[in-house]
Amino acid sequence: MTLLNATSLSHHFDYPLFEDVNLTLKAGESMAIVGVSGSGKSTLMHILSSLLRPNSGKVELFGNDIYEMDEKAMVALRRDDLGMIYQSHYLFKGFSAYENLEVAAILARQSIDSGLLERLGIDKVVQQKVTELSGGQQQRVSIARVLSKKPRLIFADEPTGNLDHATALEVMDIFENYLRDNSAGMVLVTHDESLAARCNYIYRMQNGSLKAS
Ligand SMILES: Nc1ncnc2c1ncn2[C@@H]1O[C@H](COP(=O)(O)OP(=O)(O)OP(=O)(O)O)[C@@H](O)[C@H]1O
Ligand SMILES: [Mg+2]
Repeated sequence: MTLLNATSLSHHFDYPLFEDVNLTLKAGESMAIVGVSGSGKSTLMHILSSLLRPNSGKVELFGNDIYEMDEKAMVALRRDDLGMIYQSHYLFKGFSAYENLEVAAILARQSIDSGLLERLGIDKVVQQKVTELSGGQQQRVSIARVLSKKPRLIFADEPTGNLDHATALEVMDIFENYLRDNSAGMVLVTHDESLAARCNYIYRMQNGSLKAS
């Protein structure tokens, strides 16, 4: 099954960012997007994940043209099917890590997987307030929060940016197992070439276009 199909995407802010971007991702597959800072990777992720309408082109998720959907269907799609891990975490700061996970699980009618918290190495700290956690722990809580929703498609923008390399590799194992067990897909933005190499496809944002590499 095709999870994501993007055709002829172009976008500019003050100056052109990229043109004629085409991507396809099937169930169980992962894709890395690499490129220098400022090349438009996060912008492309926002477009692919329903948050930013492109200047031109089309994004289909699970066969639906997302920028033609009504607002209600879009909200349901984001809530039930998409898992988004951003460069900054967007955890609820006044709450404990566990409460953050509960909110996501309740909204998606799923339960929190305690084994996942253990594998992420955050089972001992989830009762603490988000603000009491280190950057890397917060990052792992946001990964747990997203996986607790059981999304069919994960968008992860530098999800391991605050982690040491060994922990980043462990997180990558967790993503890979998740994709396999749930026939889900992942679009991963990363500066780490060794993580990119573990994805089924690598695309490079360069000189305004996205090329398979
Ligand atoms: N909402 C916005 N309004 C105007 N310009 C923007 C907006 N969002 C991003 N840009 C510009 O678009 C360019 C690409 O930004 P983007 O965040 O997509 O880059 P990136 O490849 O993700 O970089 P990094 O690796 O540093 O995260 C930057 O020059 C940025 O200033
Ligand atoms: Mg970015």
